[in-house]
Amino acid sequence: MDSITIQPATSLRGEITVPGDKSISHRSIMLGAIANGVTTVRGFLRGEDNMSTMHAFRAMGVEIADDGEMIQITGRGLHGLNEPGDVLDCGNSGTTIRLITGLLSGQSFFSVVTGDQYLRKRPMKRVVEPLSRMGARITGRNGGTLAPLAINGGSLKGIVYQSPVSSAQIKSSLMLAGLYADGETRVTEPSLSRDHSERMFRLFGASIATGENGVTVSGGVELTAQEVTVPGDISSAAFFIVAALITPDSELLIKNVGVNPSRTGVIDILLAMGGDIQLMDQREVSGEPVADLLVRTSHLTGIAISGSVVPRAIDEFPAICIAAARAEGTTTIRDARELRVKETDRITAMANNLRKSGISVTETEDGMDIAGSELLLGGTVDSCGDHRIAMSMSIAALVASSAITISDTACVATSFPTFFPLLETVSSN
Ligand code: S3P
Repeated sequence: MDSITIQPATSLRGEITVPGDKSISHRSIMLGAIANGVTTVRGFLRGEDNMSTMHAFRAMGVEIADDGEMIQITGRGLHGLNEPGDVLDCGNSGTTIRLITGLLSGQSFFSVVTGDQYLRKRPMKRVVEPLSRMGARITGRNGGTLAPLAINGGSLKGIVYQSPVSSAQIKSSLMLAGLYADGETRVTEPSLSRDHSERMFRLFGASIATGENGVTVSGGVELTAQEVTVPGDISSAAFFIVAALITPDSELLIKNVGVNPSRTGVIDILLAMGGDIQLMDQREVSGEPVADLLVRTSHLTGIAISGSVVPRAIDEFPAICIAAARAEGTTTIRDARELRVKETDRITAMANNLRKSGISVTETEDGMDIAGSELLLGGTVDSCGDHRIAMSMSIAALVASSAITISDTACVATSFPTFFPLLETVSSN
């Protein structure tokens, strides 16, 4: 298993771009595949998670060309997918498996979806249960709650579903099934999760209405191919934002970052902690807000984080934990139970790694308390096979008293294959 050692840095300076948004890249393939016409995608993230989505659609007869700059998807229309000849392997990608299960529920063929050792432990009942209510016949391990899942798709009926958790994967899975259902499918959630599906459904001409933490999709409406430009992923930018805030003498310009309000919880949290982050040249690209971010070294203070900002920052908590570890005072995180069912249990993984680095952390069922310190120790920590844990502990190393070795870092390729070389280009030791 790969491991990597990161040395403390004296400063972080320069201008960078981060790879394309993972969530938007997944959705561009999925909608492009079932639209009419040829969809082009620029800025597509060629991480392992998105390649899992690409391979799954190729396995269903969709022609997808990649010239290295642009992806071209020849759409097959709403009802043009073929029955896959083999199991669809979604790798490590929760978005692939949960969204595709919704889409497959509407197909009049049989399919099986599975994933790697981590994905096969993650909860699938959250999509299987409402999709079954729509009429899909889905079976799987552990009473249909764990992958592999076998899907007998077919005629679906629209439902009204009040999701108990704010989850874009649940919402998007039902929205994709809703394209094939009789009537309307409505999904509400406690507070708004990322709304990339809503925006892209609209772009492709779906019949959709949004409002009051809910979305309604009408079935049977054909989609039209689009030209999509994917902005940089704020979840990837987050590691560099926190790195520049905590490393002395730093100034980093991160260009072309997606700043969809349903994703900018991390910026709101870091601003509240005292971070110097400026959003510049705000614009809109393919229905998504985009900006350049200028970040400078800052004195951070611990804050209380809970409520509706949590789903807006859900993937950034590992990076936020590093900011908290360097802040003056204690940071409390609550209402973040979902972190326990990500690629790994991110509450336990970050608590263990921070403790190994000499930081005092108390775990709660739905969050943690982190006591900030000026002293962060070097040593060896474990990624737990989770890309975001690996990258978070890498930026912690920049301000540690000595080098930190992170074990099992191959997982970084799922979302940010160029992370380590990019970090090296901006850091001085
Ligand atoms: C995603 C939704 C989120 C997020 C994941 C990507 C998406 O998951 O954590 O990385 O693209 O829809 P949940 O829906 O489980 O919160």
